[in-house]
Amino acid sequence: MDQYAVVGNPIAHSKSPSIHAYFATQTQQSLTYSTLLGDEVEFEQQVRDFFQQGGKGLNITVPFKERAYAMCDILSQRAKQAGAVNTLLMGKNGDLFGDNTDGIGMVRDIIDNHQVSLKDKRVLILGAGGAVRGVLEPILSEQPESVTIANRTVEKAQALADHFDCLASSFDALEGSFDIIINGTSASLSGNLPPLKDELIGDQTWCYDMMYGVERTIFLQWAHERGADGADGLGMLVGQAAEAFYLWRQVRPDSASLVAHMRRQML
Ligand code: ATR
Repeated sequence: MDQYAVVGNPIAHSKSPSIHAYFATQTQQSLTYSTLLGDEVEFEQQVRDFFQQGGKGLNITVPFKERAYAMCDILSQRAKQAGAVNTLLMGKNGDLFGDNTDGIGMVRDIIDNHQVSLKDKRVLILGAGGAVRGVLEPILSEQPESVTIANRTVEKAQALADHFDCLASSFDALEGSFDIIINGTSASLSGNLPPLKDELIGDQTWCYDMMYGVERTIFLQWAHERGADGADGLGMLVGQAAEAFYLWRQVRPDSASLVAHMRRQML
């Protein structure tokens, strides 16, 4: 049976095995998908061993996405832009191919599952770390009117803005409202919010948090209190997995039904 796995550290709580098991059943594909605890020193060897032993594909998660990127013989355009790889597969000639499905997973979730278009919208992205870098190219390919990256460390926002040809700002210097605000900071992991002005939210503002949880995230709570609708990143998690599954199996699973199923289980 074809073997797949996700490598990260920590890895025990990864939802990827159950997501891919669901997709496999749904599309009648015969495969196994397990977790692999990544080793800080031996990561590259672990990847090589997995494929040498006949493994078909790996997902890569924190903190190894940049190291996976550095290992690849061939990179997709979106992986090159992201500077990070979350999906690996081995070509017939033994070349290691790396892709990054995080950004496209989020964009398809926003457009397909939430029916929110990015075209001609003024988009504000909070944060300038690896998670944000991974989503910029797929967002820009939807032709928004503008993309502004706001970050606590403005230099990091500026570096991304220079690379992707968009705008950079501190949180303080932001003015007026935006059509779409996407939270890509890791601040909410520690229960914090960046200092966001009320005026960022206008009548039509829609908010997306790359984080997700059982409870409404702290960022979506902030938006809700100011009258803005939004969605959390559960659909992004499922969406990036669906894109990886498609890459490996050439069969496109239905991610919306799984998001609904996981949401019910979380309650
Ligand atoms: P990830 O891979 O999740 O993107 P990262 O690369 O460490 O992780 O980036 C974390 C992001 O969250 C950064 O934009 C960080 O801001 P700085 O670049 O200024 O460090 C942002 N962040 C984390 N904690 C934050 C906080 N309490 N307030 C505002 N931004 C925060």
